Amino acid sequence: MVVPKTFKFNNGKEIPSIGLGTFNSPPGQVTQAVKDAIDAGYRHIDCAWYYGNEAEVGQAIETKIKEGVVKREDLFITSKLWCNYHEKEKVVPMIKDSLKNLKLEYVDLYLIHWPFGFKEEAGPWPNEGNPESYSDADITETWEGMEEAQELGLAKSIGVSNFNKAQVEKILNACKIKPVCNQVEVNPNFNNKKLIEYCKENDIIVAGYCPLGRVDSYGKPRIPKPTIFDPKVAEIGKKYNKTPAQVVLNYLITTLGIVVLPKSVTKSRIIENFDIFDFQLDKEDTDYIDSTNINVRVCLAAYFGNHKDYPFHDEY
Ligand SMILES: NC(=O)c1ccc[n+]([C@@H]2O[C@H](COP(=O)([O-])OP(=O)(O)OC[C@H]3O[C@@H](n4cnc5c(N)ncnc54)[C@H](OP(=O)(O)O)[C@@H]3O)[C@@H](O)[C@H]2O)c1
Repeated sequence: MVVPKTFKFNNGKEIPSIGLGTFNSPPGQVTQAVKDAIDAGYRHIDCAWYYGNEAEVGQAIETKIKEGVVKREDLFITSKLWCNYHEKEKVVPMIKDSLKNLKLEYVDLYLIHWPFGFKEEAGPWPNEGNPESYSDADITETWEGMEEAQELGLAKSIGVSNFNKAQVEKILNACKIKPVCNQVEVNPNFNNKKLIEYCKENDIIVAGYCPLGRVDSYGKPRIPKPTIFDPKVAEIGKKYNKTPAQVVLNYLITTLGIVVLPKSVTKSRIIENFDIFDFQLDKEDTDYIDSTNINVRVCLAAYFGNHKDYPFHDEY
């Protein structure tokens, strides 16, 4: 099987199967990382208002367009609406703010970052478990704002992130414009197969975040050992002359059929993570990686477990 370079949305547009993640990429380093990624062949950059570095990402995009390396239409740029702005009338101003920082006229994909909303004045990461900080806005109201953003041409496509099955279903039952994508955690430790299956049945592409298991968090309480540190995965890599990260990213795209968003600010890793299109894993190898699933998330946002829209109480 050929490793797909893109996946097709339910609106006919395409999303590159690998994008550079930018969460936790420091403002002083992310401009160079995005330039290195574009030079390495990436055409998809995953951003968010919350990451606080969209202006630096925008500088890199502007430079690469000015240098003639890419045209705007060659790129696929995602941004996300943060939780303080879930009321319908706040969505368009917030996408405009991201566009201003990114120095773009449109994003290719705009996502609701999390299903739970906070009051605007509560700040971006309100005090743990304080219901006073939570917004009452319903996710279908936020979705109406997203539809408006697409209708105004500010986003080519719209979708959701961290939505569970019931929340996706709620949007599907209420929407004028169907979500094209659900961006959720997927890595071999947490392969999220049931949600991926549900999204596929409903023609929604899944983009997998923390595809490498957020390597930098390993060692913190509760964070499982990323599969790229499994010696057996290193052995599998040797068979194909690939690194463990390349094996895992290839597995996620081909075997699970999802988009991957590995983050790195290290040039050699940025190049390494993109060099995944020229091999096909044997069944015994994908079976092994399947067997490493332990259903443990890296990204729990457990502080907000008492919010009415917290997504991870349901099985999927
Ligand atoms: N929608 C959401 O709620 C949400 C949540 C989390 C993440 N995301 C998106 O998904 C992206 C990826 O997730 P993530 O950053 O949490 O985790 P990740 O991509 O699984 O892991 C990133 C870590 O892995 C390291 N790394 C990268 N390539 C490597 C390689 N080939 N070998 C060894 N280590 C490697 C990076 O180090 P260096 O940078 O130092 O090279 C960084 O420490 C984010 O950046 C963001 O765009 C979205």
